[in-house]
Formats: sequence, C-alpha cells, structure tokens
Amino acid sequence: MDIRKATISDLAEMQQLYIETIQSVCKNDYNPEQIEAWTYGVKNKERWIEVIEKQFVLLAIIGNQIAGFGTLKDGNYIDFFYIHKDFQRQGIADKILNELEIEARKHHSKIITSDISITAKPFFEKKGFAVKAEQKNIRLGVELINFKMEKEL
Ligand SMILES: CC(C)(COP(=O)(O)OP(=O)(O)OC[C@H]1O[C@@H](n2cnc3c(N)ncnc32)[C@H](O)[C@@H]1OP(=O)(O)O)[C@@H](O)C(=O)NCCC(=O)NCCS
Repeated sequence: MDIRKATISDLAEMQQLYIETIQSVCKNDYNPEQIEAWTYGVKNKERWIEVIEKQFVLLAIIGNQIAGFGTLKDGNYIDFFYIHKDFQRQGIADKILNELEIEARKHHSKIITSDISITAKPFFEKKGFAVKAEQKNIRLGVELINFKMEKEL
C-alpha cells in the first residue's frame, strides 16, 4: 500500500468510493432515506474541489486503485474519512489516521476532532477518540445521527 496526496484528477474516483462505501458499509446503521441524503453531498462539486485545494488529503493506493482516503482541515479537523468497501479491515484506516495525526502535530494542534458516523465510531474509539456529543443533523429533511468526537494529541 502507498500513501500519497490527492490531486484534482483523483476527485471522480474519490467520489465513487465515497458513495459506494456509504451505500454498502453504512447500510446497517442508516436507512435508505438517510443513505440517500448523505450521499447527495457528492453533488456539491465546489465543496469537493475546495477539499482538494485547501485540505490535507491523503489517499491509500493499492495497485492502481484508491483503497481509502482521509482529509484534515485547518490542521485539526478530519472532514472526510472513507475506506473502499472491498478493502475493509485491512488496517488502511489505521494507517491513514496515523498520518493525519502526524500532520496535525506538525500544526501544533493540541486536539483533533471530527463528526463521526455511527459506523465509524468503534474504529475512532479504538484509536483514542472520545464522544463529546451525539448530534442530530437534518439533511434534505432527513435526520442523520453522528457524533462529535475528539482526541488529545
Ligand atoms: C470505519 C472505517 C473507516 C474503518 O476502516 P478500516 O480500514 O476497515 O479499519 P482498520 O482495518 O484500520 O481497523 C483497525 C481496527 O479498528 C477497529 N475497527 C475497525 N472497524 C471497526 C468496526 N466496524 N467495529 C469495531 N471495530 C472496528 C478494529 O479493532 C480494527 O482492528 P482489527 O481489524 O484487527 O480488529 C471503515 O469501516 C469505513 O470506511 N466506514 C464507513 C465510512 C464512514 O462511516 N466514514 C466515517 C465518516 S465520519
């Protein structure tokens, strides 16, 4: 597995991975309406371009394929964090998160935070994150539960 920074040419594959991961990996935790509202975010092209241009975006590459990606905003906030449905439980999230934490430390950040799905919560707990709040977000009229989580660096 290689880790490298993303460029704008990776965007389409990242978006495909994002949709497929939510639809398959998160389907036991969110109903079809919620999955639809969540994946609708992929249509916000400007947001995604801004992520690539302004955030620290790491890809895990296996063969020629993106196996997962994670993004760090402002040196202390994990914005996107998704592992490909066919590459779950192979230590890829572990590797990406370690790299994001190294980057956060370079920014002298004291804490790293994120808004974490029900699906990803056990992984982040294992990695030392604590739940600060349960959140009910309304997207396209649908309620989506996630957790504000935080880790001291
Ligand atoms: C959560 C997620 C990022 C984990 O990715 P992953 O590459 O499969 O995780 P890793 O293989 O690095 O897991 C490392 C350890 O974390 C723990 N872990 C990972 N996923 C877990 C789960 N679903 N339940 C319990 N523990 C889990 C395990 O201890 C695991 O070690 P093990 O496999 O030896 O038991 C991945 O399942 C995912 O993409 N989920 C859906 C997307 C999502 O919700 N993203 C977050 C948006 S906020």
